[in-house]
Amino acid sequence: MEMAFTAQLLLLSSLFLQPVLVLSQTNGSIAVGGSLTATAEGNSSSSWLSPSGDFAFGFRPLGNNDLFLLSIWYAKIPDRTIVWYANNKPAVAPLGSSVNLTAHSGLVLTSPQGKELWKSETIVGVVANGVFNDTGNFVLEDDSSKKLWESFKNPTDTILPGQIIETGGSLASRQSETNYSKGRFQLRLQQDGNLVLNSINFTTASTNTPYYGSATTTGTVPGSEGKQLVFNDSGYLYVLRENGGKYTLTWGNRVSAMAYYTRATLNFDGVFAQYVHPKTFSGNASWEPLWSLPENICLDIDADSGPGVCGFNSICALSAADKRPKCECPRGFSLLDPNDLYGSCKPDFIQSCEEKEEEHLYDVQMLTNTDWLTSEYSRLEEFTADNCSESCIQDCLCGVAIYSNQTCWKKELPLSNGRVDSSLRATTFIKFRKDNSTLPVPPSPSPDDKKNNKTTFTGIRPVILATALLVCLVLIAAAFSLGLFFTFQKKQVRIMQSGLNISLRPFSYQELQEATNGFTEELGRGSFGVVYKGIIQNGSQVQVAVKKLHCVIQDGDKEFKTEVNVIGKTHHKNLVRLLGYCDEGQQRLLVYELLSNGTLASFLFADVKPSWGQRIEIAYGIAKGLEYLHEECSTPIIHCDIKPLM
Ligand SMILES: *[C@@H]1O[C@H](CO)[C@@H](O)[C@H](O)[C@H]1NC(C)=O
Ligand SMILES: *[C@@H]1O[C@H](CO)[C@@H](O)[C@H](O)[C@H]1NC(C)=O
Ligand SMILES: *[C@@H]1O[C@H](CO)[C@@H](O)[C@H](O)[C@H]1NC(C)=O
Ligand SMILES: *[C@@H]1O[C@H](CO)[C@@H](O)[C@H](O)[C@H]1NC(C)=O
Ligand SMILES: *[C@@H]1O[C@H](CO)[C@@H](O)[C@H](O)[C@H]1NC(C)=O
Ligand SMILES: *[C@@H]1O[C@H](CO)[C@@H](O)[C@H](O)[C@H]1NC(C)=O
Ligand SMILES: *[C@@H]1O[C@H](CO)[C@@H](O)[C@H](O)[C@H]1NC(C)=O
Ligand SMILES: *[C@@H]1O[C@H](CO)[C@@H](O)[C@H](O)[C@H]1NC(C)=O
Ligand SMILES: *[C@@H]1O[C@H](CO)[C@@H](O)[C@H](O)[C@H]1NC(C)=O
Ligand SMILES: *[C@@H]1O[C@H](CO)[C@@H](O)[C@H](O)[C@H]1NC(C)=O
Ligand SMILES: *[C@@H]1O[C@H](CO)[C@@H](O)[C@H](O)[C@H]1NC(C)=O
Ligand SMILES: *[C@@H]1O[C@H](CO)[C@@H](O)[C@H](O)[C@H]1NC(C)=O
Repeated sequence: MEMAFTAQLLLLSSLFLQPVLVLSQTNGSIAVGGSLTATAEGNSSSSWLSPSGDFAFGFRPLGNNDLFLLSIWYAKIPDRTIVWYANNKPAVAPLGSSVNLTAHSGLVLTSPQGKELWKSETIVGVVANGVFNDTGNFVLEDDSSKKLWESFKNPTDTILPGQIIETGGSLASRQSETNYSKGRFQLRLQQDGNLVLNSINFTTASTNTPYYGSATTTGTVPGSEGKQLVFNDSGYLYVLRENGGKYTLTWGNRVSAMAYYTRATLNFDGVFAQYVHPKTFSGNASWEPLWSLPENICLDIDADSGPGVCGFNSICALSAADKRPKCECPRGFSLLDPNDLYGSCKPDFIQSCEEKEEEHLYDVQMLTNTDWLTSEYSRLEEFTADNCSESCIQDCLCGVAIYSNQTCWKKELPLSNGRVDSSLRATTFIKFRKDNSTLPVPPSPSPDDKKNNKTTFTGIRPVILATALLVCLVLIAAAFSLGLFFTFQKKQVRIMQSGLNISLRPFSYQELQEATNGFTEELGRGSFGVVYKGIIQNGSQVQVAVKKLHCVIQDGDKEFKTEVNVIGKTHHKNLVRLLGYCDEGQQRLLVYELLSNGTLASFLFADVKPSWGQRIEIAYGIAKGLEYLHEECSTPIIHCDIKPLM
């Protein structure tokens, strides 16, 4: 470390570059009424400088979205690292926003529309002026120079020399390197005096068990508990104990506070580290870490302290250079969100328990000393490594197997707290699919069903039988399993009769009696009707389900016609087709296409379970049928009863 800095210092005189920044030089004093506006970068009306010019306060553009961050940053170094920011939600201000120094509310950030985005905490007293100190502290004073508000007392993710955190105080990480919204990690000086690092459970807003603690609690020596986290002017960071003792966090080689900037930041990945940067810079100078906590965040966040830095199925490894965690998806997995390198990994394949392993579809990738802490479901003793990998390959639940000391631990997805741990002496077998086949992509919806290529469905066509609202009382129980799968190529006979303006075929009662062989083969029964199997002649023979309604309610005729009318107009491959009806005297019958595979439930819960690919197709098919009913058909249908069939 020291070598590196010495080398950089030697280069300073030869490589001296000025930053290309245009900023208004102040004497550090800002009068009430002063304001800044979020404008183009480098515009002097968007920031104030501390007297030495080391720090700037104002608007920093974020990316190129015309969004700005009200912040304090190092003004003289090229990367202009941000050390404080206004914690509004979200932590951004649009182009044209302004921050005004007011007597009664302190700093007030407003959008161009006049909406208040953020203000310095409640000010007790009247602000006389703002003082931007060379320490990087922005202070609001009253006319007797009493400090009413300080950025140092409202820290974000960084602590600077001269800054103190009292018990109860904390730093909070940001969301990611470039997203300043509040992230998952916290550094807190607890009431008991312990300085801890912990993650936050966003669901419950509670703090998880710390993954680091300074152990500066009372313990056996009263007065040894911490009362302040102090970053003193010479760059030492320590917990000051009640009894005046110090628990020093600063290790490693010291560098001169005159020649170097230094800061300690709780990074977005949960690592708290102190960094140094030469004040006078060469082209390549950058922040170098002096030390960091915890020792190895990949290992120190265990299952008790919440999910690790990396998402599900991901593997956390500490980078030797900067002791920061890196996340990597194992083979056969890829990032759920390609922009979130620290997010979860999804498998690129679906493992199905139906496929026969004789086909040798899966293999394992061997890794050393990699483990996931949770999701263990099986532990096998007196195994060899080969037994272990083979056992995982053969087992359709197994996602990964960890082998160590003749024991084989099998774990299923999703896996959490993945890490590389060299102390494990374990071999890890992660399962992947050899043909690299990816998740089946559902067929894209076709605007015209007739053109839809049915071969995209691998033999499954989920359909729903929907009944219109008005008559659902009658039909609710009658709509039993009418079974399946039968691709209808029959030509529609367009008939206009008795107010039924639909292409449905009217049947006489006698015709249906013959078609069902005298109503003999019953498919299902409910309190309002019975469903019979039948065959009708339509050039060729067509299997049908005939629903015979036996309960004729008042005004039944009108409702029956409505039902027939509405359902008859639907036409979608994922809806059971109504082919015809019979409305003769007291007899009310409906003729549907027959789906002979039975209900979806019988398919889902059969001995042979459908594969994931088939399940996806089913869900997709049903959703398409519903979407059609709700939104696409000419008369949207309010259905009170749907039955999924196959
Ligand atoms: C700083 O500048 C302001 C005006 O720009 C002036 O009123 C004030 O007296 C100056 N303060 C010092 C300490 O020079
Ligand atoms: C800075 O911004 C102000 C306000 O938007 C504008 O009037 C001025 O022309 C800008 N100056 C430069 C140098 O861009
Ligand atoms: C803040 O200052 C700007 C520029 O001086 C001014 O246009 C705006 O009205 C002020 N906003 C408030 C809330 O005082
Ligand atoms: C500014 O910093 C100096 C030390 O650099 C300190 O003595 C002074 O009190 C600070 N002023 C304010 C207003 O914080
Ligand atoms: C930052 O992250 C938060 C939370 O994930 C998100 O809501 C927000 O849109 C992000 N902001 C930007 C500028 O990406
Ligand atoms: C900062 O703390 C270190 C270690 O306790 C001490 O040696 C040094 O004198 C302190 N510096 C200042 C300016 O207080
Ligand atoms: C700067 O970095 C480049 C590439 O990283 C390297 O080739 C060059 O030697 C460095 N210069 C200095 C002065 O360190
Ligand atoms: C958050 O807490 C809830 C309730 O204790 C728990 O069920 C959930 O798993 C936690 N989430 C995380 C990400 O730790
Ligand atoms: C382990 O593998 C060996 C060699 O293939 C085999 O003989 C043995 O039965 C296996 N043991 C178990 C427990 O599967
Ligand atoms: C290996 O496992 C056996 C029991 O299965 C145990 O007695 C032994 O201590 C273990 N050895 C190591 C190095 O963990
Ligand atoms: C699958 O992907 C791996 C890694 O990308 C590659 O080495 C292998 O050849 C691929 N296998 C097939 C069958 O495409
Ligand atoms: C339907 O799919 C089959 C097999 O994928 C293909 O050969 C055929 O050309 C497709 N037909 C249409 C109309 O897209």
